[in-house]
Amino acid sequence: MTTPGFGRIRQNEIYTAGIHGRKPRVPTDHAELERAARRVMSDRAWAYIAGGAGEGSTMSANRRALDRWAIVPRVLRDVSSRSMEIELFGQRLPAPVLFSPVGAGALAARDADVHIGHAAAELGVPYIFSNQGSAPMESVAAEMDRVRAGAPRWFQLYWSTDDDLVDSLLERAEKMGANAVAVTLDTTMLGWRPQDLNLGSLPFARGEGIDQYTSDPRFTEIVAERVRAVAGSGERPELSLGALKTLFSIARNTPGAWLKNLTSPEPRTAVQTFLEIYSRPSLNWDDIAGLRDRTSLPIVLKGVLHPDDARRAVDLGVDGIIVSNHGGRQVDGAIGSIDALATIAPVVDGAIKVLVDSGIHTGADVFKALALGADAACIGRPHMYGLALAGSDGARDVVANIIAELDLTLGLAGYTSVDDVDSEAVQRVSG
Ligand code: GLV
Repeated sequence: MTTPGFGRIRQNEIYTAGIHGRKPRVPTDHAELERAARRVMSDRAWAYIAGGAGEGSTMSANRRALDRWAIVPRVLRDVSSRSMEIELFGQRLPAPVLFSPVGAGALAARDADVHIGHAAAELGVPYIFSNQGSAPMESVAAEMDRVRAGAPRWFQLYWSTDDDLVDSLLERAEKMGANAVAVTLDTTMLGWRPQDLNLGSLPFARGEGIDQYTSDPRFTEIVAERVRAVAGSGERPELSLGALKTLFSIARNTPGAWLKNLTSPEPRTAVQTFLEIYSRPSLNWDDIAGLRDRTSLPIVLKGVLHPDDARRAVDLGVDGIIVSNHGGRQVDGAIGSIDALATIAPVVDGAIKVLVDSGIHTGADVFKALALGADAACIGRPHMYGLALAGSDGARDVVANIIAELDLTLGLAGYTSVDDVDSEAVQRVSG
């Protein structure tokens, strides 16, 4: 995405379609994108995807932190030719943007992850597959390779209480061509999420977002052991109308014939097993220290917010961190990720890669993140809204729009390369 400028190409596409009376399928600003997505998404999908922890104050903090920084454009610098290319873990990437992992995408669209993978491969930017995805990683990888052989992809790992499952997921990630593993550190338990709680809705309990598990040999082995143990004990599940509905949903969301899924104990045991073992609250630095022996992939720690944790990550020799508060979904009242980035980037000082996510909605946001020391930014909710509105094309267009705006912002602020964007490009304006 160098000359003649991705931003102008994208503008031209949209304005040319406009001449023929066609409007963009996904709104090009975040506020309208969010409104349009709300109209087409179910209450449960909206609660899970758009919702945050507690009163939503971390989500607001993410936006406030961005608003406190203003871009200070420079003029007369010949910006006719621009480059957004970056290098991450040995790969040249067209822009400093990645698709964040988002769990339970099936709430927004069937086979969500396959469609998002398709979109990311079309753009050539990495997709970080969710460990709580709605399609097995191998299917997503195959779709991406169909679009563009070797299209960049990472795997997000939730550290299970079962170490063999961790190893199995890592092995599969390596086999399907992951370029890095992003270990999520901030979700050793789910945060307090009133939007979901008020609906009594946990997608995973209905079999939504557990496809990486039900497609895993170690996980299916654990489930089989549990099914045998329960059969031996003579226990029967308690049945109510609500429980029956949940069983129907689990049967629908489980691979294989629906009726067989409904009548066999494996699918509901898989859900219970997932809920018990998907994440480990005892996760600590020793686990991370041992990760190098478990995988040859570059290791990225996701969810770092304190400079001391960033320093420790550097000392441990990991390859990168993602400064993130999980889109404001975990701790209410937490620091905005851009505020955290401003203190962390100087500590890391280029020793390892620093990415950021949480509240990044636009190309101008990505520009600010780069100015404050990020190597790249990850986009979460926006591409899910695009997916809900227009499938794979929608997810692609949302991220293409963000990259287009980044390109234009880069040039209009007086820069010809993302590599040159530093703290000189922004000024703290309030707060
Ligand atoms: C999982 O990633 C979640 O935020 O629910």
